[in-house]
Amino acid sequence: MTGRSTIDSTISPAGNSSAVDVRGVSRIFAARRGPGVTALDDVSLVVAPGEFVSLIGPSGCGKSTLLRLIADLDTPTAGSVEVFGKPARQARIDQDYGIAFQQAGLLPWRTVAGNIELPLELHGVGKAARRARAAELIELVGLADFAGHYPDQLSGGMQQRVAIARSLAESPSLLLMDEPFGALDEMTRERMQNELVRICAETEAAVVFVTHSIPEAVFLSNRVVVMSPRPGRIRSVVTVGLGDRSRRGEDLREDEGFFQALSQVRDLLRGDEAASTPQGAQGVETR
Ligand SMILES: Nc1ncnc2c1ncn2[C@@H]1O[C@H](COP(=O)(O)OP(=O)(O)OP(=O)(O)O)[C@@H](O)[C@H]1O
Ligand SMILES: [Mg+2]
Repeated sequence: MTGRSTIDSTISPAGNSSAVDVRGVSRIFAARRGPGVTALDDVSLVVAPGEFVSLIGPSGCGKSTLLRLIADLDTPTAGSVEVFGKPARQARIDQDYGIAFQQAGLLPWRTVAGNIELPLELHGVGKAARRARAAELIELVGLADFAGHYPDQLSGGMQQRVAIARSLAESPSLLLMDEPFGALDEMTRERMQNELVRICAETEAAVVFVTHSIPEAVFLSNRVVVMSPRPGRIRSVVTVGLGDRSRRGEDLREDEGFFQALSQVRDLLRGDEAASTPQGAQGVETR
């Protein structure tokens, strides 16, 4: 991987303040018998404000675990996680981020608007302000005609859009997304990717996005973090030089640079099979 290589061997983009700062994080899950499972081993990653970073890697390599640690839904065995310069726990208390996972996780007895308003309601935002914010978000995700519908009256893709709108309700500067489009058909998925790019350009949120799809990772991201199988480590980081989000539209999917980045990420993932090259054939280690 030489020449056009955009593989990055630093852990941080330029700039001082970071949206996410994961330092030397390991997570070992204790087993009833025998040694525990090392889900993550000495992982370090810095995400800049407004940056879109995807995590990609084989099943079980620790992607969800890493996201859960950033969201303070779990605690590292070693190392530290900071979100906007605060410990992860404080960031959770301060609601610095929104979360959207593979399952939309909507409340079936609440309408689209009711679901989107929920986090605002929980955090004491007044009724009028809640209504106004929900209406704005419903417009943003293209569900204006469905505000009064219930989740079971929506398609899977529409439910996912509600979940994304909900995650944006408090205008988080950081979005944590774990395979949010995993269950969607290809066309809906691409449409959702286009929408997400547009929404992120508008809100300037940083995103940590877990996916199994190489095109999805490349299309959405400023950087793609390629992880290796258990124990999960960061194998390499590909900087996708395809311009900023406002430029990313359907055309990009036909762009030569897009295909180059695809094959670059694919090669790095394939490197997983070359077990004899412990640090990856590309010799990139991001720590
Ligand atoms: N709560 C838990 N208790 C015990 N082991 C766990 C727990 N959560 C995750 N693991 C283990 O940690 C490893 C990483 O799991 P994780 O869910 O982070 O993988 P992943 O990369 O998200 O995989 P997938 O792509 O399949 O979603 C796996 O071996 C899994 O069995
Ligand atoms: Mg997972």
